[in-house]
Amino acid sequence: VSITVRIATAEDVQPLRRWVLRPHTPPTDPFPPEHDGSVHVAAYDGDRVVGVATVFPQPWPGPPPIADAWRLRGMAVEPSRRGSGVGRLVLAEAMRVMAEAGASLAWANARSVALAFYEAAGWVPVGDEFVTAETGMPHRRIIWTPQ
Ligand SMILES: CC(C)(COP(=O)(O)OP(=O)(O)OC[C@H]1O[C@@H](n2cnc3c(N)ncnc32)[C@H](O)[C@@H]1OP(=O)(O)O)[C@@H](O)C(=O)NCCC(=O)NCCS
Repeated sequence: VSITVRIATAEDVQPLRRWVLRPHTPPTDPFPPEHDGSVHVAAYDGDRVVGVATVFPQPWPGPPPIADAWRLRGMAVEPSRRGSGVGRLVLAEAMRVMAEAGASLAWANARSVALAFYEAAGWVPVGDEFVTAETGMPHRRIIWTPQ
């Protein structure tokens, strides 16, 4: 199977992101939220979107706060394609985008179940586990410093 990973439109990433990460959110609820400056990344098998992520400028809340930080959200791979490197390719492209944008720090709220996925790509957990209101799931905050 040949997979290509590239910058994508919000319309391309939205369906898989919602289906994987917010399956119980009513279609009437706006999800995902729009963030100014968002760059979307998708993995395609032909026309089919099999992996997605979104990055955008958002200050690191600190401490200490960092103004020129970028945040990663919406990392999702189609269930039948998991464990074959699609997520790694999408995450690498998202990291490249943030580095090229000049981010001095990249951060995310990672689901604790997926922490090892991010650690394998060089991300580091910081702080205690917490539960997000939107998902009810345990998370850790993770950071990565572009070189
Ligand atoms: C987490 C997710 C994006 C990973 O994508 P993927 O395509 O399955 O991951 P890859 O195959 O590219 O794996 C890359 C590395 O991370 C590891 N990894 C992947 N998923 C993992 C998981 N859930 N837990 C632990 N390690 C994981 C793999 O072992 C692999 O390392 P290896 O090649 O040395 O074995 C995908 O499983 C997913 O969409 N999960 C459901 C949604 C989710 O939890 N998203 C994250 C929200 S923060």
